[in-house]
Amino acid sequence: MSVPAHAVVPVAPSGPFAVPADLEAECDELISHYPVKRSAALMLLHAVQERFGFIQKEAMEWIAKKLELQPINIFELVTFYPMFRQNPVGKTHFKVCRTLSCALGGSYKLHAHLCERLKLDRHAHGAQTTPDGKFTVEFVECLASCGTAPVMMVNEDFYEGVTNAKADELIAKK
Ligand code: FES
Repeated sequence: MSVPAHAVVPVAPSGPFAVPADLEAECDELISHYPVKRSAALMLLHAVQERFGFIQKEAMEWIAKKLELQPINIFELVTFYPMFRQNPVGKTHFKVCRTLSCALGGSYKLHAHLCERLKLDRHAHGAQTTPDGKFTVEFVECLASCGTAPVMMVNEDFYEGVTNAKADELIAKK
């Protein structure tokens, strides 16, 4: 499939990865709450993602070493849980639910509208980010508010019964 010129192709970033001392201290503190080191894996992933915005390969390796695990043990968590990201996203991240209730309630039209407004490819697989890094639009699975479809999240905020007009308002606010 050809990639439109306006789309940003996600590339799994890798390279030098340095953990700031305060983040390492935070991770050590988190680990101390658990009787078994590996039980802190999800908490460390959240801490790293919160700091860097995503979890690169070297970060997974660092966490694995810290917890005396193999990198695959961390990689499988990152790929299983959809809230973890392996690539950077835009400053404003629209997550549109595409599971059945929302699909029936218009989430595909909402996603298409967002993509059209932001000049992104609605047919492309995965998260789409504008070239200026301001916006990312992504389909996600059920956000657990199926009765108020279509539902989406904007960063950590939750919106229900989202119309195209509401989406326009949210874009304009950013
Ligand atoms: S189907 Fe969209 S919130 Fe459940």
